[in-house]
Amino acid sequence: MHKKFEFDYEEFDEKKEMQTADLELLNAAYAAVETAFAPYSKFKVGAAARLSNGQIVIGSNQESASYPVGICAERTLLNSIGSQHPKETITAMAISYIPNGVASDHPLSPCGMCRQSLLDYELRYKAPIKLILAGQTGKIMIIPSADYILPFGFTGSILGK
Ligand code: THU
Repeated sequence: MHKKFEFDYEEFDEKKEMQTADLELLNAAYAAVETAFAPYSKFKVGAAARLSNGQIVIGSNQESASYPVGICAERTLLNSIGSQHPKETITAMAISYIPNGVASDHPLSPCGMCRQSLLDYELRYKAPIKLILAGQTGKIMIIPSADYILPFGFTGSILGK
């Protein structure tokens, strides 16, 4: 039997086409980029999440002299929300970046480990996390749910949890 996986998402050429709340979250992600600690890769990433109470929380990549110890912006943010706002649902996350101090002109696609963590949080809160992906300039991608970008993801259900 042939099967196909596909999903709908939005793409905007200009920020003025975006919903105000999404643009606000993207601007928070731009601010988060400035908090990145990336002396080794020089690749600064910022993420901003909107919580169910309307609050916006930010996170950024934090690197280590022992390279694998470093953590991506998305998981910095998710784990901080899980610890500090465990009762709030994450409704959306905007992600942006600045590579080598030069403004980025296309969206960043979250790494596989962060996709797993995003999926974990969607299942934990039983709510989709809308992803807003953009460089400093260029097109903006809006993906309605993080699980769209981790098809056939590993979940706790197979562990019987
Ligand atoms: N990075 C993120 O923060 N998020 C991603 O989705 C991809 C990569 C960070 C990890 C590392 O500090 C730097 O970017 C270069 O890989």
